[in-house]
Amino acid sequence: MSPPLTRRAFHRMTLCGAALIGSHALWRQARAGEVADVPWTDNDPHLSGNFLPVLREVDARDLPVISGKIPADLRGVYMRNGPNPEFKPIGYTYPLDGDGMIHAVYIQDGKARYRNRFVKTESLMVERRAGRAVFGSFTHPGPVDPSLFLPGEVPSRIKNGAFVNIIQHGGRLIALNEATTSYEISAELDTLGLWTAGGSEPLRLGAHNRRHPRTGDLYALEYSWRTPTVKFHRINSSGLLMNTRSVELPMPTMIHDFVLTEHYLVLIAGPAVFDVQAAKAGQSMLQWRPDIGMRIALLPLDGGAPNWIEGEPFFVFHFANGFERGQQIVVDYVQHDKFALTHGPTPTFKRMTIDPAQRSFKVAGFSNEVTEFPRVNHLREALPTRFVYMPTLTSSLNEANPPTAVFNTVLKLDTETGRYTRHDFGNHIVGEAAFVPKPGGGQEDNGYLVAFTYDPERQASNLVLLDAGRIEEPPVAVIEMPQRVPQGLHGNWISSS
Ligand SMILES: [Fe+2]
Repeated sequence: MSPPLTRRAFHRMTLCGAALIGSHALWRQARAGEVADVPWTDNDPHLSGNFLPVLREVDARDLPVISGKIPADLRGVYMRNGPNPEFKPIGYTYPLDGDGMIHAVYIQDGKARYRNRFVKTESLMVERRAGRAVFGSFTHPGPVDPSLFLPGEVPSRIKNGAFVNIIQHGGRLIALNEATTSYEISAELDTLGLWTAGGSEPLRLGAHNRRHPRTGDLYALEYSWRTPTVKFHRINSSGLLMNTRSVELPMPTMIHDFVLTEHYLVLIAGPAVFDVQAAKAGQSMLQWRPDIGMRIALLPLDGGAPNWIEGEPFFVFHFANGFERGQQIVVDYVQHDKFALTHGPTPTFKRMTIDPAQRSFKVAGFSNEVTEFPRVNHLREALPTRFVYMPTLTSSLNEANPPTAVFNTVLKLDTETGRYTRHDFGNHIVGEAAFVPKPGGGQEDNGYLVAFTYDPERQASNLVLLDAGRIEEPPVAVIEMPQRVPQGLHGNWISSS
């Protein structure tokens, strides 16, 4: 029997920054109160409840499986990134600010292991040296004392927390932020440094990237808050930057995601623009300007000139997938009728069908259920996909006014029939569900969905595996986490097989 874990003993274990929790008794005690949240509070709803960051970096093995069973042939790791500010922020705008923290669940031989680590960005190191937050919000940046930066560091008013996404490409794990440099991470979540994609300088790119199904090339988008130029980088399957091309928009524009098809890059730019003058006047640097309209650019992958299409404005944070069907381009996405970080119109899932020859498009809806974070079987990215997985919110969550992006149900949409199936987690919050291919592949939905859930009553988190073919059935496995896993953004399954 394991001895009791006193607070002093626990802190001794964690003096080097990580708690090694090796038995059920120890980690249960740690989760029950010894693992501290950050030592500050904030009234911002996106810094409260399960949005409140955790400070402790924890290791735990042999996680309890509280229902179901981990498939014996499943081998890999689910990594999920999210904003987790270490210091009480000066200004905070969800989901644009924070320090990255990656929560990883490693699965092998029917067992699960947990590890979480901060992404040790240059920005976080500056704040650790200062012992406090020094950067303002992304939407309201302020001056930062240049003496806080070490020789070789680049003084900046904008924090790079590398908290939005984590992907694997070219054998490297990369923690991504929004339109800035990214950080290479080890398999055990150590921060290795800025990612250069084989070049001499760190590569600037966005949080969402698309991998071509034939070549394995990764296409990455870089926009700027200073200039209206949007760049697309092509990074080959070995992780080397091959070339960059660019298009021009009327103003510097925020573009969180884009779509790749077999022969095109598809840029859909709603008029969420950066306005430095507005920021100087104390307003948000990000402004919704419907008068500018929306521009769609179809960029042939063979290097041909872009085909531009204009339309009535709306905004897209996330696309599920895009593909070619005959002479048309199909884009599945979540539509926001305007750009708003909080209290905006209800985002719903849509399908856009583009006719490049006519330079026109039409939009069709599937349901009016609120949603975001749509995902497909990533092995079929840029190819025709039938099934989309996305979270929604139902009345079974006992929270009257949950903050933005709180969901409790996973939907599976069959885009051929329009039929939805669902897994309602009741009074548990669920985040983005990533696809996990079953060994052997096969049908498009032959896999699992993996997501973190959160129980507000127990203030505890689980990792849930659903069968993607039958999401309405009880979970394949529910794995108890050794500490609360805060609300995050994007994650991916990285297969070991
Ligand atoms: Fe995103």
